[in-house]
Amino acid sequence: MKQLLIFFICSIIIISCNKNEKEDIAEKKEKQKLSANSGKDIYIKNCKLCHGVDGKLGISSAADLSISVLTIDEKINVITNGRKGMAPWKGQLSPEQIKLVAEYVQTLHQ
Ligand code: HEC
Repeated sequence: MKQLLIFFICSIIIISCNKNEKEDIAEKKEKQKLSANSGKDIYIKNCKLCHGVDGKLGISSAADLSISVLTIDEKINVITNGRKGMAPWKGQLSPEQIKLVAEYVQTLHQ
């Protein structure tokens, strides 16, 4: 009887350890997904076409982002609502993604 009890306790410990491991993996995957959706990735995917990798390209008279004097909030506004040659992104990107990409654009400043 005592042996059976020990067996049960060991099983429970093993099962609960396994569960933690699985949760850890799920957590890691979630983090990877988030970083795959970083500002840089969003920029390369959606903005590089007109603005170039470094923000200087200026296709279809796109503004040179490396010398932009806009604040982060003004950038978020332009990206969200568009301006002249630039279409609004609010349908394509979530507010969080727009904030991430605006923060990335800040890093292109010289
Ligand atoms: C179809 C080409 C095109 C794409 C794609 C594009 N832009 Fe633009 N962008 C422009 C043009 C053109 C302007 C200048 C608008 C104007 O003259 O008012 C501009 C202006 C801007 C400005 C304002 C800069 C300043 O200092 O005035 C920011 C910030 C910006 N774009 C960020 C982005 C981001 C971030 C993305 C990707 C989500 C993006 N753009 C995608 C064409 C584009």
